[in-house]
Amino acid sequence: MKIGVIGLGYLGVTHAVAMAKLGHEVIGIESDREKLKLLSSGKVPFFEPGLQEALIDVTKTGNLSFQEKHDRNSASCQLHFLCVGTPQEIGSYAADTSHVFAAAEELARVVSEYTIVVGKSTVPVGTAEVLRGRMSELAGFNVIVAWNPEFLREGTALEDSLNPDRIVVGSWDSAAVEKLREAYKPILDNGTPLLALDVPTAELVKVAANSFLATKISFINAMAEVAEVAGADIVDLAEAIGMDERIGKKFLRSGVGFGGGCLPKDIRGFLSRAEELGVGAAVDFLRNVDEVNLRRRDRVVELAQQELGDLQGKKILVLGISFKPDSDDLRDSPSLDVALRLSALGAKVRVHDPMALGSLGDRYPELERAKEIETGAKDAELIFLGTEWSEYKSIDPASFGDLVANKLIIDGRNVLDVAAWQAAGWRLIALGRNVHN
Ligand code: UDX
Repeated sequence: MKIGVIGLGYLGVTHAVAMAKLGHEVIGIESDREKLKLLSSGKVPFFEPGLQEALIDVTKTGNLSFQEKHDRNSASCQLHFLCVGTPQEIGSYAADTSHVFAAAEELARVVSEYTIVVGKSTVPVGTAEVLRGRMSELAGFNVIVAWNPEFLREGTALEDSLNPDRIVVGSWDSAAVEKLREAYKPILDNGTPLLALDVPTAELVKVAANSFLATKISFINAMAEVAEVAGADIVDLAEAIGMDERIGKKFLRSGVGFGGGCLPKDIRGFLSRAEELGVGAAVDFLRNVDEVNLRRRDRVVELAQQELGDLQGKKILVLGISFKPDSDDLRDSPSLDVALRLSALGAKVRVHDPMALGSLGDRYPELERAKEIETGAKDAELIFLGTEWSEYKSIDPASFGDLVANKLIIDGRNVLDVAAWQAAGWRLIALGRNVHN
């Protein structure tokens, strides 16, 4: 099948590569020339495990090509996937859908009555209907539109795209569902269910899923706040409640909280859309979810001050600045936020990250970049582990202790072997854990 993928960010590149891997002929369309240049020369513009190799493989087969604008060739695609971003609007909680509408309007100039336009971007419920109306007006006929939300996680994006838990399709038109069944056939043949739903439900599934995940993380972090004053241990508590199959173990990892390009902006966008629809009270708890999440960052800053007193001139090493391991994405990263706040309080902050230092570019010159963990640790008075990259979990606390000025570490992800660090003479503070020595 000939397929267009519009917008080549984390979602678009992964989807384009995945569809090409399934054997389709894919044309990726991206208006950012820098990104386009990289992709056309076979380079993924961000770090995502396995994606670079997969991109090279599919480009070699001739199944994937990139271009800046629509042309006659891209106009003949049977399916066009809209994968552009919907960031949080500046100065409000609402999702900014302007890129989705701009891409749809461009597309409306080239679509035929047989083209199927499939939205994958996360949008406020009701967007697809407005978009269909606008496209149809511009095209002069009823454009077929479907919504097919994407649930991939950064770090496992390609695997999630090729082996999803489910494929959700919202449409007004059974032809769209059939075409998508055909496009996803190898995935469906592997046993993945396809849920054909109405459009508002499909739009809502995505924000509801992300809201649930965010709520689960904030729930355990709220319990961590209680555990801290009650002398209880959050890791043991999470394990104990997670053993109840109705609750489940996943997404109960406590620490400095969630970040990234999806969870934070999706719960805020949902709050905003629900208010517009007159049902703000129904999801008002998400405000709390957001607050609990941000309070964990405050807590780390508070602990640093408690331990070191005035932070002016204090040397602090932050381990990990990406919002999660196996990603170089800095969007709404909790650890980067903490690093910047410590620096604003006068600390000399060095940051280390196995992959994300490049994403900093020349932003935040106040943060000293440490290329090696060891150089970053030299004479440090406090270490803050903010992102649980595997290399941090395997640091040897004994030899590491020889580098620092003060054996003090805050484990912001509750992943370190407490007994081993304490045995090596470290004072280890873990959020919500009853392990302080
Ligand atoms: C999320 C959704 O999981 C995915 O389905 C959707 O398509 C996009 O948004 P992603 O943002 O890539 O994916 O990462 P995710 O694994 O969900 O983690 C989000 C944040 O929550 C990270 O900052 C992570 O460190 C944090 N987290 C996750 C926790 O703090 N505790 C947990 O138990 C799980």
